[in-house]
Amino acid sequence: MGLLSGRVCIVTGAGQGLGRAIAMEMCAEGAVVALLERNPSTLAETAAELARQGGSFSEHALDVTDYAAYEAAVRNILDRHGRIDVLVNNAAINPSTKSILDDTLEEWRRTIAINLEAVYMGSKLVAPAMVSQGSGRIIHISSIQGFASSGLCGSYNAAKGAIIAYTKSMAVELAPHGILVNAVAPGFMVTPMSVVNGVDETETPDFIDWYVGKRKIPLGRSGMPEDVSGTVVFLASDYCRYMTGQLLVVDGGLMSTF
Ligand SMILES: NC(=O)c1ccc[n+]([C@@H]2O[C@H](COP(=O)([O-])OP(=O)(O)OC[C@H]3O[C@@H](n4cnc5c(N)ncnc54)[C@H](O)[C@@H]3O)[C@@H](O)[C@H]2O)c1
Repeated sequence: MGLLSGRVCIVTGAGQGLGRAIAMEMCAEGAVVALLERNPSTLAETAAELARQGGSFSEHALDVTDYAAYEAAVRNILDRHGRIDVLVNNAAINPSTKSILDDTLEEWRRTIAINLEAVYMGSKLVAPAMVSQGSGRIIHISSIQGFASSGLCGSYNAAKGAIIAYTKSMAVELAPHGILVNAVAPGFMVTPMSVVNGVDETETPDFIDWYVGKRKIPLGRSGMPEDVSGTVVFLASDYCRYMTGQLLVVDGGLMSTF
């Protein structure tokens, strides 16, 4: 028996990076995982990995900002399985390397639409099923950039900070229905998102010198997707039953130093 045996879980942005690792770990713990992803080729790669692992899953190629497509996917999952136990709001973009002096309203709105509004939409779409079940877990993937900034990425940081506030609001509203809502704030992770303009920011000499060599990250390394997926499984499992509205920071100790 796995920690998530038979639970129906949705993971958005499951095509690569953290989303793929979360989907794989949930499957390994016995969950049935609905993979939501806008990129059909990475979606197929995750599905192939899960099939090799012998996991139970379904594929839903969609953009999470498309409300009608998202609603249809949720209906499809409910038709197949009759319930939704867990939603992991993971899909996001980090497109902005510009400051407020250089970015555009259009860029701001695009980031907020994916990184914040789609979190609201997905939660709103699954909450009624969870209310009628009398149970559910909603897990948001925020970021340490939701409460600290290294400069730039303002729209990304604003969305990630808003998620932390919204986690608390949702937790209070949904607790009477047996729905627990928590968030995870990863630090520097090695995923395709850490590659900016063709350079992996976790591998530059400056990064290695400061964060690894000088132990600005006390654990002395960047995070791997598997460092976060176990935390998400914990939040989705029965080991997490008296905790809601919380943010778990998974950053190798980075935010504990100054
Ligand atoms: N990589 C990091 O250092 C880091 C740090 C802190 C937080 N995070 C957060 O972790 C989560 C996962 O990040 P990652 O590093 O795995 O990123 P990633 O870019 O490697 O993967 C994100 C996935 O989401 C998908 N996606 C993006 N927009 C979508 C949309 N509109 N509809 C459907 N799918 C969409 C992408 O296609 C991709 O498969 C994100 O919420 C991110 O903000 C990442």
